[in-house]
Formats: sequence, structure tokens, C-alpha cells
Amino acid sequence: LFAGPVDFVKGVVAMNGLPEADRLEVCFAGRSNVGKSSLINALTGRKGIARASNTPGRTQEINYFTLGEERYLVDLPGYGYANAPLSVVEKWQRLLKQYLQGRQTLRRAFVLIDSRHGVKAVDEEIMTLLDSAAVTFQVVMTKADKVKEKDRQKVLDQVRGALSKHPAAFPELVLTSSEKGDGISTLRAIIAGLD
Ligand code: GTP
Ligand code: MG
Repeated sequence: LFAGPVDFVKGVVAMNGLPEADRLEVCFAGRSNVGKSSLINALTGRKGIARASNTPGRTQEINYFTLGEERYLVDLPGYGYANAPLSVVEKWQRLLKQYLQGRQTLRRAFVLIDSRHGVKAVDEEIMTLLDSAAVTFQVVMTKADKVKEKDRQKVLDQVRGALSKHPAAFPELVLTSSEKGDGISTLRAIIAGLD
């Protein structure tokens, strides 16, 4: 699946701009700067197809990418702190929530959590929203290269504890580094295996 063509489709700024719901899709949600866009670049092997940057709030639209003919990968704006005007941030946060609750063809939401920081209150809020909408979500730990082996376990325990309270959570975590490539083939296989 990931050997096939990957293309940017469009950036969506309102629910009525979403592409026709004619195929399965997965999305990447998480706090601003957690590494959503970088992960899409790593998964597709197309550096820069999703724009990443060190400024929180880089992605401000719902960006659609095709994966072969039958799937969409969806890069979402971040939640939590963003380096953008409040009125703008509120607009895209509202859209983000509408999307997560209202997209029929959303098969799984990947919720990205920074390997250094674990689950924060804003992550809990999104997980609760996904529970209510009955959207299965799976946690992807990002930036694994930035955490020392000895510090990793504590964060993982915190994340597992948090997940145990969410009925929509898929129990298996995926540890990734978009920088070093860890976990990327595992995540590709998970996405390819959804039907
Ligand atoms: P927003 O669009 O602002 O919500 O951010 P995002 O979640 O899309 O994050 P993005 O992919 O833009 O990455 C944010 C910063 O983290 C960039 O400077 C990336 O280079 C860096 N980054 C992302 N993934 C990794 C990783 O696996 N390892 C390291 N070391 N840095 C990473
Ligand atoms: Mg982004």
C-alpha cells in the first residue's frame, strides 16, 4: 500500500469542504508540535508532503492525502497551545472536533503522544470526545529518539493508565521516531491491515 502513489488532495477549512466519504481514512491527531505532519512524511517516505515545523500551530487545515486509490491519510491541526491568534485557533479547534465526531469513513484516529511528556489534560479531552463518538483510537508515541531508555517506561506506564479509562482506546501502543524511522513499518502495517 505504501509503495503506491501518495498525493496531496486538499486542505479543508470547513466540514462542507471534506472530500466525498467514499473510502476508508485514518487521521493523525495530537497536541501542536507533537509530530503529526512529520509522521505522515515518514510513513509515506515523502519528506515535505506534509509541512512540518518547529512552530506549534503549523498545520491549520485538515489536510487530505491519498494512499493508493482506496485510502486517505488525514493530517489534522494540533490542539492545545498554538502560535497563532486565538480567534483563528478557536476556529480550527472547532473544525477538528466536528471532524473527529462526524466523519463516517474515519476508521481509526491515531492520537499522538510525545514520548517525553505522556498524556496531558488536552489529550484526555480528545480521547473522551472519541469515546463519545465511538471512534476507535490508537496511541502513537512520537519522538522516541528524544527520550532515554531509562525514562521511557515511566511515561509508557502513565499512558497505559490513562488509556485504561477510555473504552474507545485500542490497547496496543506504537513507539515511533519519524527522525530515526523506529516504528514506521509497524504503523504502516497497521494502516494497511484496516478494512
Ligand atoms: P502542528 O502542525 O503545529 O500541530 O505540529 P505537528 O504535530 O504536525 O508537528 P510537526 O510534524 O510539524 O513537528 C514538530 C517539530 O518536531 C518539528 O521541528 C519536527 O522536526 C520535530 N519532530 C517531529 N517528529 C520528530 C521525531 O520523531 N524526532 C525528533 N527528534 N523530532 C521530531
Ligand atoms: Mg502539522
